[in-house]
Amino acid sequence: MEKIVIKGNRPLSGEIEISGAKNAVLPLMAVSLLTNKKLLLKNVPDLADIKTLSGVLQGHGTQINKINEKEYGFDLELTTPEITSTTASYELVRTMRASVLVLGPLLARTGKAKVSLPGGCAIGARPVDLHIKAMRALGANVKISQGYIIATAPNGLKGGQYTFPAVSVGATENAIMASVLADGTTTLKNCAKEPEINDLIKCLVAMGAKISGVGTSVLKIKGVTSLDGNTHTVIADRIEAGSFACIAGIMKTEITLKNIEPDILQHPISVLKDIGIKTTINQDSISFKGQEINPVDIETAPYPLFPTDLQAQFMALLCASNGTSEIDEQVFENRFMHIPELTRLGANITLKNDKAVITGVDNLQGAPVMATDLRASMSLVIAGLFAKDTTTINRIYHLDRGYAGLEHKLSKIGADIKRIK
Ligand code: UD1
Repeated sequence: MEKIVIKGNRPLSGEIEISGAKNAVLPLMAVSLLTNKKLLLKNVPDLADIKTLSGVLQGHGTQINKINEKEYGFDLELTTPEITSTTASYELVRTMRASVLVLGPLLARTGKAKVSLPGGCAIGARPVDLHIKAMRALGANVKISQGYIIATAPNGLKGGQYTFPAVSVGATENAIMASVLADGTTTLKNCAKEPEINDLIKCLVAMGAKISGVGTSVLKIKGVTSLDGNTHTVIADRIEAGSFACIAGIMKTEITLKNIEPDILQHPISVLKDIGIKTTINQDSISFKGQEINPVDIETAPYPLFPTDLQAQFMALLCASNGTSEIDEQVFENRFMHIPELTRLGANITLKNDKAVITGVDNLQGAPVMATDLRASMSLVIAGLFAKDTTTINRIYHLDRGYAGLEHKLSKIGADIKRIK
């Protein structure tokens, strides 16, 4: 198994190009199931999750071509002339939960779908009950049998009303993709408002979908009979950007992030400012300059509040602050597995009433650590860059799911980071 070895405490500075957003590309790829026309996605990051979803889509009949390959990504041509299978197997879905995003599109285009339940994952139970309830609200019959969601709508989906009892990114995306081809108008309330959802809607509207309320929690979708093809440029990855901002902060240096619209990073930027990181916003780049690191309290919540996907990285940054911070993880019930690993590097973190209490230390010391999930892995990279001596991160396949060209991007700004077998 591959490992990442970081010799920490080196001077870093420079520019980093931000890749396209993983969490935007995955639902956009599933859009291909809704049309027989070509969908060209530009600015796709070179990530393991893209490969995994490509495998799932190919199983349903999608033809996929990688074109214009660049250093950390490519453009992806997807065409699904017809759906050749409506089953997404356990073997494929269990490796990546986002595969459940094929449920809505398969049901919308063919009136049936058999999709494996994804099961729990390291950060929590992560049920898909809201995805299923939204499909039922559109007239689908859904039963669970032998670990599979079996959904049918023999006469097609019908426009309906559904109020999500809790905010879910994936369930909102599935419900949107199911509604665009439904017969009649659908109203979805208490929808997630993440920028990646807006990106999905932008692409669907360009293909002929009728969706109003974009950027709000109430979406109205008037079903159409078919969708056109489209060429769509994927938005930048705000989580990748926020992760590099934490590196600027902890290393007390200046890093400029290119190819990122500052708007989608508003809340994390306000927290970075509270921490004391100087932020300069330009048209499509942002510079972060780390200085003194002040403690802050953070609570994760759906967009536009603080993203759970940056919680671990900010915790690593706060390990080097000049006081005591608290982090309250409100989105996932088990997303603190990086705490024992950060503690191995010398961090002072305790748990009080389910909140993490982080007291800053002057130094961290390198050690072997284990990546437990995607964002937790990045917190170990951030801590490893700051730590004295060598940090070896095991199980880095997690990182390859979400950070395109990580070692190259960091080497270019001066980091001593290597991947070894
Ligand atoms: C997406 C992101 C993930 C991010 C998360 C929250 C993708 C591919 N992944 O995941 O990186 O951390 O949003 O911002 O975009 N829930 C239910 N029932 C459901 C669905 C969700 O109870 O049917 C719960 C989850 O267990 C979790 C909360 O709702 O506690 C939010 O999850 P959700 O927004 O659905 O996350 P994902 O779409 O899986």
